[in-house]
Amino acid sequence: MTAVSLKERSGAAWNRSIAKKQIVALTGAVLVLFIIFHLAGNLLLLLGPETFNAYAGKLESLGPLLWVARIGLIVLFVSHIWLTILVTLENRRARGREYEVFDPKGGVHWATRYMIYTGLLLGLFLIVHILDFPLADRHGEAGTVVTAAGSQNLGLYGVAWNRFLNPLRDIFYILAVSALGMHLSHGFQSVFQSSGSDHTQFGGWINKLGIGLGVVVAVGFSAIPIYVIIRHNTLGIGL
Ligand code: HEM
Repeated sequence: MTAVSLKERSGAAWNRSIAKKQIVALTGAVLVLFIIFHLAGNLLLLLGPETFNAYAGKLESLGPLLWVARIGLIVLFVSHIWLTILVTLENRRARGREYEVFDPKGGVHWATRYMIYTGLLLGLFLIVHILDFPLADRHGEAGTVVTAAGSQNLGLYGVAWNRFLNPLRDIFYILAVSALGMHLSHGFQSVFQSSGSDHTQFGGWINKLGIGLGVVVAVGFSAIPIYVIIRHNTLGIGL
């Protein structure tokens, strides 16, 4: 093979790799919007069953549109995860595995190194989460809460209440949303790098915004299982 065609081939591979990184950034940015919307909706749980179920009812009333959004989300999650794995493998091949994993002063931020691991934990979390919530029979046993006054079906609120009475699940959720916080704080910074924006002037702000986003997401989602546990156990309130 001539030197020119080798150069062309590596140039094309480089362009494909950049395109993949840009799609990872774009799908990640849309997923962040979903996560913020999802967090805001879920925090309504803290206001009680009526408010939360009214919100869940509004979403349900979207009918087929909700399913279009869900399918869109699946496509986004799968492409984001799949392309991230491809990019990570390509980077490892290009740099050499040892450099990336073992060189502590290699200039690779720890969050970058752990992006793949936090991402994989989030993939596992999503499977558990979809089984826990969207696939739960909210009108049946899963949504029925036992109170001092007897059993009562509280719909999707009841599903969340029952799920978070299990401390092991709470720990798993808190670990997963903390990983999500770290993943987002780094991913947020990457969006600006991958989109090619020169952020040297705003680098400090972008870092702070990324960390802020990660903290809000981790603390906000964790508040929900913690609220259920405190309200049920410490305050001794059935509901
Ligand atoms: C304490 C934390 C969380 C709670 C209480 C929660 C609650 C819920 C509930 C109630 C649903 C069902 C919505 C419905 O069927 O109308 C749902 C669906 C879903 N959640 Fe979460 N969620 C949490 C964290 C997360 C996180 C961190 C992610 C993403 C990384 C996520 C992604 C999804 C997805 C993709 C769906 C399916 C789409 C949908 O039906 O809206 N959730 N969640």
